[in-house]
Amino acid sequence: MAAINPVTDLTLDGDVAVITLNSPPVNALSTAVRTGLFEAFTQAEADPAAKAIVLICDGRTFVAGADITEFGGVRTGATLQEVQALMEASPKPVVAAIHGTALGGGLELALCAHFRVAVPSARLGLPEVKLGLLPGAGGTQRLPRIVGAAKALEMTGFGEPAPAKDALAMGLVDELTEEGKLREGALAFARRAVAENRPLRKVREDDAKVIADRGKPEIFADFRKANARKFRGFLAPEYNIRCIEAAVALPFAEGIKEEGRLFAELMAGPQSAAQRFSFFAEREVAKIPDIPRETPTVAIKKVGILGAGTMGGGIAMNFANAGIPVTIVEVKQEALDRGLGVIRGNYERTASRGGLSAEQLATRTGLITGSLDIAALADADLVIEAVFERMDIKKEVFAKLDAVCKPGAILATNTSYLNIDEIAQATKRPEQVIGLHFFSPANVMRLVEIIRADKTSKSVVATALALAKQIGKVGVVVGVSPGFVGNRMLARRRAEAEALVLEGVMPWEVDRVLFDFGFPMGEFAMADLAGLDIGWNKETSKGSTLREVMCELGRFGQKTGGGFYDYDANRNATPSPVAEKAIREFVARSGVTPRKISDEEILDRLILPMIDEGAKILDEGKAIRSSDIDVIWVMGYGWPVYRGGPMYYADQLGLAAVADRMRTYEKSLGKRFAPSPLLERLAAEGKRFADLKS
Ligand code: 3HC
Ligand code: NAI
Repeated sequence: MAAINPVTDLTLDGDVAVITLNSPPVNALSTAVRTGLFEAFTQAEADPAAKAIVLICDGRTFVAGADITEFGGVRTGATLQEVQALMEASPKPVVAAIHGTALGGGLELALCAHFRVAVPSARLGLPEVKLGLLPGAGGTQRLPRIVGAAKALEMTGFGEPAPAKDALAMGLVDELTEEGKLREGALAFARRAVAENRPLRKVREDDAKVIADRGKPEIFADFRKANARKFRGFLAPEYNIRCIEAAVALPFAEGIKEEGRLFAELMAGPQSAAQRFSFFAEREVAKIPDIPRETPTVAIKKVGILGAGTMGGGIAMNFANAGIPVTIVEVKQEALDRGLGVIRGNYERTASRGGLSAEQLATRTGLITGSLDIAALADADLVIEAVFERMDIKKEVFAKLDAVCKPGAILATNTSYLNIDEIAQATKRPEQVIGLHFFSPANVMRLVEIIRADKTSKSVVATALALAKQIGKVGVVVGVSPGFVGNRMLARRRAEAEALVLEGVMPWEVDRVLFDFGFPMGEFAMADLAGLDIGWNKETSKGSTLREVMCELGRFGQKTGGGFYDYDANRNATPSPVAEKAIREFVARSGVTPRKISDEEILDRLILPMIDEGAKILDEGKAIRSSDIDVIWVMGYGWPVYRGGPMYYADQLGLAAVADRMRTYEKSLGKRFAPSPLLERLAAEGKRFADLKS
């Protein structure tokens, strides 16, 4: 016995048949894998020399799920369900040997083995919900039979995998083997099962846990209530819950039918299509056409940060979390103390909630040191500047960094809008200068825009990408333009939101439309959060903009208890009568007769200009592909992932329809709604933004 097909091997190790999968990168259940498994189990079960069967994987992981690239295509070869039936009905003990991740269909496959052994570093989970799906191969029916409904709701509802140790405690795994000795451990387990004549456990027949949960609707009601905010707008979490309800209420065979029905519905729907698109888009960002994967990168062993304000502190935490020492330089002792105090406070809060051990707390805070002397950054491999957003200050700081930092050190700026080509000119090493635009709160938000300036070297870009991954971020490479990609598009939305208010729409009406679309908060709630006084000057303020009007009333936003909204002590927002009166007076002064504007028009006017700006960005080559823009909006600005991203959304609407609607608004609202040349061209050619890739 040997190769069954190019990705499946069947060998005999003494009296145990060993089926080995080797289908890089993640042993996903492609047609070849499923067909290979079916054939291998058929042969192993028929072979009288084999007393037990071990299923194990080569490479970095056990089966990480169905092959997502095959979704939507024509199914050929054995189905996963046929393989599962064969395994479960095997008269010989079947042992799944798990390393890396057993995810989705991979875990569902393992749940049809009679036993599971794993190495301690393995993780097991059902992450389908993140793809807008539910486990469609019995996972929702078998999992609660092992772990009970409450745990199954969590595992399918959030999709986070459980570490092997927890899986052992839950009964999902029968035994842990020594790290690096999985094969030996699984073989020994299989032989013991034969020797002890252990009953072959079929999870589907184990009803004790689901019977115990029967007649307790509060398990589900509580879960729905506790997570209503998190699940808002998404279909898949609710469908996962319904499947677990079915597992508890119905016999296995009927529960499986319900699972299949709901799975098919999700699979055919727009949300899962968008979430699957997003999964691949997130992985595509690291592919830069002119920078091959093997481009040399610089090792970043020491990081310097300039400015211990809102951003500097959060950025520093990312590196300390990854074990990289950081020095923060400030101008004044007071600012440094405050910045370091905020960092410590953040870590202590996490520790008090059980998120960090005392030892981790000490290590992380110990990795961050402060200084008032820029010379302390002399040996840093990378310095990130996060001082005030002013070109003169940035240039001065970069000239100083250039003089102080060692040759080869990368000099990065966290600027939100400023021209990085100009900042780079303040140094004698423009090829080492790059933008690393983190999002606030920088220790939480996963997005980093990596801004490649005119002269930035390929190695510096490659290093930034690798570093982003190392600190758990998603880095998207973009070009220099005001506001780069995210803020540049946001500026269009913001301008239109204010235009709507000037035509008589109240800020909370604008915000409700964005909230209903799926954004976590609207434009004006966001402005209140950031502070309306950013860039406001009391001396020069003339009440000529909405913001000036608010600031002149002392309404700076959340921090003063009021801005466009009023805030209570818990920062809950309610529409403000004071703001409303001021806005109505402002609109009256400007001579506009307020009119009723439909939600549909509000949404169009907020979203279409963003799409159009995205088209300009693509046309100017400031983003590599439209899906990169989508990743930026989903990860940095709360665009609902079940709508893919603005460019994906436009592709679904059809670019001809987008351009048409813009032209209609152009007639009444003017030139700002004229579709950009790229949008016009694609619309005329019947193409999508996604087609630009090829
Ligand atoms: N199908 C197809 N390709 C997959 C895949 C899958 N299930 N999972 C990962 N890949 C691909 C990625 O696209 C990537 O390809 P690329 O190198 O060409 O960009 C490559 O494998 C490596 O992936 P990552 O970059 O994500 O590697 P990591 O090591 O960071 O992570 C992982 C590995 C944890 C397995 C992660 O890839 C992951 O979470 N994968 C998805 C797992 C999943 O969602 N499984 C459920 C699928 S749905 C299902 O099973 C339905 C069933 O219920 C019927
Ligand atoms: P901040 O005002 O909170 O902090 C700036 C800090 O820099 C202050 O503590 C100040 O004392 C210090 N500083 C000023 N000059 C310095 C110098 N020469 N050397 C050392 N330290 C100096 O500002 P924030 O919000 O952290 O912004 C910093 C940068 O990050 C800006 O360029 C901003 O545009 C950008 N940014 C801000 C975001 C936000 O949400 N706040 C988001 C993304 C980028």
